[in-house]
Amino acid sequence: MTEQVTLDKVPEPRPGSGEKLLEVSGLQKYFPITGGFVFQRRVGSVRAVDGLDFHIDAGEALGMVGESGCGKSTTGRLVTRLLEPTAGRLAYAGQDITHSSRKELAPIRSEIQMIFQDPYASLNPRQTVGSIVSAPMEINGINPAGGREKRVRELLEIVGLNPEHYNRFPHEFSGGQRQRIGVARALSVNPKLIVADEPVSALDVSIQAQVVNLLQKVQRELGIAFLFIAHDLAIVRHFSQRIAVMYLGKIVEIGDRESIYDKPRHPYTHALLSAAPEADPDDDGRERIRLAGDVPSPINPPSGCRFRTRCWKAQDLCAEQEPPLVQLGGSSDGHLTACHFPEEPSVEARKEDIVLDPALAAIEDSGPAAASAEETA
Ligand SMILES: Nc1ncnc2c1ncn2[C@@H]1O[C@H](COP(=O)(O)OP(=O)(O)O)[C@@H](O)[C@H]1O
Ligand code: SF4
Ligand SMILES: [Mg+2]
Repeated sequence: MTEQVTLDKVPEPRPGSGEKLLEVSGLQKYFPITGGFVFQRRVGSVRAVDGLDFHIDAGEALGMVGESGCGKSTTGRLVTRLLEPTAGRLAYAGQDITHSSRKELAPIRSEIQMIFQDPYASLNPRQTVGSIVSAPMEINGINPAGGREKRVRELLEIVGLNPEHYNRFPHEFSGGQRQRIGVARALSVNPKLIVADEPVSALDVSIQAQVVNLLQKVQRELGIAFLFIAHDLAIVRHFSQRIAVMYLGKIVEIGDRESIYDKPRHPYTHALLSAAPEADPDDDGRERIRLAGDVPSPINPPSGCRFRTRCWKAQDLCAEQEPPLVQLGGSSDGHLTACHFPEEPSVEARKEDIVLDPALAAIEDSGPAAASAEETA
């Protein structure tokens, strides 16, 4: 699997409007762990999301990256209110929706849509494309001029499918086409915010770029804000104006695209960038960092800095104090990092090859694509 993901040269991401569409503060989600045979008692909790602060402007795309298990999907499900937050605050267009009831959410339900990772599981196999794509219109009582069927046919065209596919069933389509159906479904109610949770990870590499290109087009031409979740920095790079890097329930670094890719300060961001297949082949003065082991359990996360068990820069302080997410000297406005011993704002600073895990190194040496698939799986 050596195929490169090639993305269209599309215009720069549409600048955010500066008007905050989504505001998230101190957001937490703890899943209870219960034990006992007769009486279920709470014996602990999975701290899946543990105090997030971020915002998304109207029309802006925020990319969210991190390895599997870092709490990205939970964040997406909290934002769309598929999950009830444990603590913190969520505001949409200035309205507090943290604990809004179904009824209270009804007027904005259609404005926030989700695209799921698995285009096989997310489409009902017994429904036709027409009824799948028109379902959100039906649920939200939306009757477009000319009728729902006409609108569905238009949407199929927008997402690159044949409008004649209206009466077909999901099994007649490939993964990429199914994801296009998912995009059409999300667009059917003219959303203002789309949460796309790893929308291309389940697809063939050659198809991934096509679907990312479609989403980019949608974002830029229709001015829809996105929370684009991925485990691969190469995928969100072209898509997002700002990127948030998550590790074990926390944002460890956030900033505009240039800051994150060109002047990352957090060791974890360096490691993720190092693992990402190089999107820009001329630019590789970068050292290779292979992350050892797995993300620790969110049931009992490491004290202080959660990344310390895998960080090559960790010192005693890192176990004692949690580093705050702040703007460091040398970082640009809005570029925040949570690290006691951050990297200098230059990726070329260290030249040595940091090998944290010989097993991963061996895989990597057998081919770049194999390694990136392995490390980001
Ligand atoms: N419903 C749930 N009950 C218990 N634990 C959960 C639940 N959903 C997710 N988790 C746990 O929360 C952590 C974060 O999961 P998730 O948000 O899916 O991460 P990501 O999308 O970054 O891979 C994981 O350890 C996962 O096992
Ligand atoms: S705070 Fe310490 S352990 Fe955490 S990322 Fe920074 S140097 Fe590494
Ligand atoms: Mg996930």
